[in-house]
Amino acid sequence: MDKFVIKGSARLRGEVTVSGSKNAALPIMAAALLSDETSVIGGVPTLADIAHMSELLADLGAEVHRDAGDRIVIQVRDETHSHAVYDRVRKMRASICVLGPLLAKRKKARVAMPGGCAIGSRPVNLHLRGLRALGAEISLEGGDIVAVAPRLKGASIFLGGPYGSTVLGTANVMSAATLAEGRTVIESAACEPEIVDLAVFLNAAGAKISGAGSPRIVVEGVERLAGAEHRVIPDRIEAGTLMIAAAITNGQVSLRNVNLDHLMAVVDKLREVGVDVESSNGVAEVCSARRLEPTDVTTQPYPGFPTDLQAQLMSLLCLADGNSAITERIFPDRFMHVGELGRMGADIRKEGYTAIVTGVKKLVGAPVMASDLRASAALVLAGLVAEGTTTVNRVYHIDRGYEAFEKKLSALGAQIERVDGGSPPVE
Ligand code: EPU
Repeated sequence: MDKFVIKGSARLRGEVTVSGSKNAALPIMAAALLSDETSVIGGVPTLADIAHMSELLADLGAEVHRDAGDRIVIQVRDETHSHAVYDRVRKMRASICVLGPLLAKRKKARVAMPGGCAIGSRPVNLHLRGLRALGAEISLEGGDIVAVAPRLKGASIFLGGPYGSTVLGTANVMSAATLAEGRTVIESAACEPEIVDLAVFLNAAGAKISGAGSPRIVVEGVERLAGAEHRVIPDRIEAGTLMIAAAITNGQVSLRNVNLDHLMAVVDKLREVGVDVESSNGVAEVCSARRLEPTDVTTQPYPGFPTDLQAQLMSLLCLADGNSAITERIFPDRFMHVGELGRMGADIRKEGYTAIVTGVKKLVGAPVMASDLRASAALVLAGLVAEGTTTVNRVYHIDRGYEAFEKKLSALGAQIERVDGGSPPVE
């Protein structure tokens, strides 16, 4: 398993280009199953999760290849295999994205039920509730979700759950509804930019979706979808992570390919604690020159502060001048990084869904263990500024979601090195 060895204390400086969004690309790739024609998706980052999705689509009869760097070309050749097996799904939960498209196009789908993961239990009951409302019969057989429907029928569906809307649940139901008979109204839909991007892709393929980006999405079903060419949005979580990297090192970084409209809550928080964030000509400039103020933050569905940046912000607040409270309202157990940051000298106390962070003067390098993608990124950020050497183990988590992370950080002046430690475990 590869590790990152980081020597702390370099101030990041320079320019970096943000990659295309992983979480936009994954459901869009799955939605290519809805058409018999070729889809061309640009801006797709080179990541382990994208490779997993490509392999899954190949299992399901699609020909998938990368052309010209960041473009993925998908063409379904054979619709006889509609089973997403457990071995694939357990490697990547986002495999659940194929459920709606398979069911709508092939009238049946069998997808292994994803289990829990390092950030919590992660049920899919809302996905199933939505697809049932469209007329699917769904049962659980041998750990697999088995869904059948001769033709889905439009319906009014409420998709809210105990922690708000569901992003991939909205993606599944919206994708499936494109080929349903009649009109579907999704209430309490996720408003994330990745849902808007999926709707833009589907509409380019001939779907009739309106309201994406609001809590009420309306889909008028069509008979068939064509192929579409589409470029995915910039990765707002990678952008936010790099902004926090600039802030934590008191650096000065320009980010290209970033949409600050997707990061309003993050920019607002960074400004509140004393980071300068400006934007001109499509480039975001992030600069921090002093010890930062503490703050309180609660993760929320979009446009609130994203759970996928909670851990990274925690690393930053570990060094603020006072007490901060970070409340996690999307995945209440997403605090695996707390103990590891503690190994680096952070002062964090957990109280239920809240972490109270008391700012310390410095963090000290230590060997730490990554538990999931965003927690790993948070540990790397802490390592950038910690005194001495930090070794972040199990960086395959980072390879799932950050394209060339250590290369981008090195180019900004970080002292970070990937050390080969053999192949990752199968999780
Ligand atoms: N939930 C239910 N029932 C469901 C689905 C979700 O109760 O059927 C709950 C979840 O347990 C959670 C909340 O609803 O408490 C929101 O979960 P959501 O379904 O929105 O999460 P997701 O769609 O599975 C996506 C991202 C995650 C990101 C979340 C929240 C992708 C591939 N994944 O997951 O990204 O944290 O939305 O924004 O888009 C990551 O990139 O590191 C990552 C984990």
